[in-house]
Amino acid sequence: MFIEEVKAVNFRNYQELYLQLHPRLNIFVGENAQGKTNIIEMLYLSAMGKSFRTNKDQELIKFGKNQAYTKVNVKRLSGETLIEVRLDTTQKKKLKVNQIPLTKLGELLGNLNVVIFAPDDLKIVKGGPGERRRFIDNEICQIYPKYYYTLNQYNRILQQRNKLLKESRGRKIDLEIWNQQLAEAGATIITYRKKFIKRMGILAKLMHRKITEEVETLEIQYDSNVPFKEKDEFKEIVDTFLKKIGENSSMEYRRGLTLVGPHRDELVFKVNNIDVKNYGSQGQQRTAALSVKLAELELIKGEVGEYPVLLLDDVMSELDIKRQNYLINNLKNVQTFITTTMISQLNTANTENRRVFYVSQGEVRKCD
Ligand SMILES: Nc1ncnc2c1ncn2[C@@H]1O[C@H](COP(=O)(O)OP(=O)(O)OP(=O)(O)O)[C@@H](O)[C@H]1O
Ligand SMILES: [Mg+2]
Repeated sequence: MFIEEVKAVNFRNYQELYLQLHPRLNIFVGENAQGKTNIIEMLYLSAMGKSFRTNKDQELIKFGKNQAYTKVNVKRLSGETLIEVRLDTTQKKKLKVNQIPLTKLGELLGNLNVVIFAPDDLKIVKGGPGERRRFIDNEICQIYPKYYYTLNQYNRILQQRNKLLKESRGRKIDLEIWNQQLAEAGATIITYRKKFIKRMGILAKLMHRKITEEVETLEIQYDSNVPFKEKDEFKEIVDTFLKKIGENSSMEYRRGLTLVGPHRDELVFKVNNIDVKNYGSQGQQRTAALSVKLAELELIKGEVGEYPVLLLDDVMSELDIKRQNYLINNLKNVQTFITTTMISQLNTANTENRRVFYVSQGEVRKCD
């Protein structure tokens, strides 16, 4: 799939933005603070219904304005999809797909698939477990929109259960119904994660071997809080879940907190058998994160039948020439957006396959 056209009004530092995009490679060049990342953010918003930089939609509206509007045209194998977002300082955001208003954010997911790699994504490897869970959840949501509802459902049950545990002040209360609900929603999440991480691991390993020219081997391990076995299916995971709740019951009452479940899952990245989070070099961490992102391209293609759009914000300067070239030359069928402060960093010999835009103070100029 690819984005053909973009329109935005009062989005970040753009009063009005209109772009006709290249189906293959789009490069946005400009000095710092000119609006390059804002474009990536706008595309991400169209795919996910929210920003990757902030949870406050208000921040996306141009200073001094009350509304912002964005529109993207997505060309897919199945036809064309039009995605519109309207942000308002006083109202909830409004989303439309092919002119039809959506009632829930979840309905947007899957209309435009994107994979983003921004400097912050190093957190997938370097950050805390919560970062890794958020990353995994976002990815699964894009492929299986239903997962989003399960996740919300699980979080609601978790909050309720935590509230009851807290209010019980250490005294035992009847939590059986809550335990069952938590275990079932939790086992659904674990089943999704298990399947997803396994496939992602295989693809990321392949990508990682290519980028490192066979020198390093990346392994991604799902270290779930609920100790299921490899062959276990939903039913067995529910049983293991309930058993562990039983074992941790006294501790849960004492602490007034749910201690068992996928909200405590972890993901471990190993390069040549070494935990990269704690022992990897900067370069190894970066390469591991990049491999995961490239794996996602294949993963999404496998599920939805076509490549998602790749958004690379400011990553070129962090990569050596070999890795930059790999990104530009080996992703021939993927529409890619690259932001950079220096065009000379990029090997752009093949001018037919790309469009370069200069970004300056919220104005974008196409360059031939
Ligand atoms: N809501 C807003 N209204 C108006 N301007 C905004 C708003 N939010 C951010 N900006 C402006 O947008 C600019 C930053 O844009 P952006 O993050 O896209 O920069 P960039 O070109 O990616 O820079 P860098 O190379 O440093 O990453 C800043 O000048 C900032 O003041
Ligand atoms: Mg930027």
